[in-house]
Amino acid sequence: GVHVIEPGLGYLACGMVGAGRLADPEKIVAETLAVLGVSQDLAGETVLITAGPTYEPIDPVRFLGNSSSGKMGYAIAEAAIRRGAKVVLVTGPTALTPPSAAEVVQVETAEQMRNAVMEHFAEASIVIKTAAVADYTVKQRSDQKIKRKGEMTLELTPTADILAELGARRVKPSQIIIGFAAETEHGIAHAREKLRNKKVDAIVMNDVSQAGIGFGSERNAATVVTTHEEIDIPEMPKFAMAQRVLEIALKLRTPQKSEVASR
Ligand code: PMT
Repeated sequence: GVHVIEPGLGYLACGMVGAGRLADPEKIVAETLAVLGVSQDLAGETVLITAGPTYEPIDPVRFLGNSSSGKMGYAIAEAAIRRGAKVVLVTGPTALTPPSAAEVVQVETAEQMRNAVMEHFAEASIVIKTAAVADYTVKQRSDQKIKRKGEMTLELTPTADILAELGARRVKPSQIIIGFAAETEHGIAHAREKLRNKKVDAIVMNDVSQAGIGFGSERNAATVVTTHEEIDIPEMPKFAMAQRVLEIALKLRTPQKSEVASR
């Protein structure tokens, strides 16, 4: 059961030339993954992933946000890297350390996330949007800290729907675009509506009314809604779900792509 990675050839510390150098780290990683049966089926591809929340500033010290931890998106980034992809991770504020091999774009607001996603969209063959993007932003951000003085009303204005914009502007028909949705009721119906309206290939619907999954937790469970089917992913660690989502992305690319493109 032992697999030997042969040493590299070249000049050695002892002054001789020959076999004896530390093998290239990339070679060690690639051979280790191959022995472990981890497929490199995303080699040569760019996967664009969004993760975490967005923060919409109210004043210099307050914002509108949500409790996305970024764990789901970071798990997909890590899984895609292990399968050989170049990963661009556009992330809202989180407490996580991004995978070192990812190209990371840190953003705060929905508008910044949109700009970063649009900048990298053309190079991506797969886009997966796990980010919990604010649907509304504050119309008039105060330059100074707002003082407490009884009731107040915040005027909000809708943010750009990044996922819908991607669905409307596919750079090539083979691009796979997957959104996530956190729902508390009528999850499948809402996911199907998002799939149709945003013209994407799949919506991964988390029923966040279930305890122990979704926002902030280590585990998730979902139903992946596509035009053709509903795929149940039972509760599992987020990294395992990340692998399932990537497999679905690859499967979506194969036969029925022409129908997807014409939706
Ligand atoms: O980050 P974790 O703590 O690990 O939690 C994971 C998660 C629960 C946040 C994640 O798995 C999830 O469900 N993300 C989607 C959250 C959500 O409610 O999305 P939505 O239904 O508001 O949006 C649907 C899709 O449109 C999402 O892909 C979202 O990125 C996208 N969207 C939404 C609004 C907007 N203005 N632009 C967008 O692109």
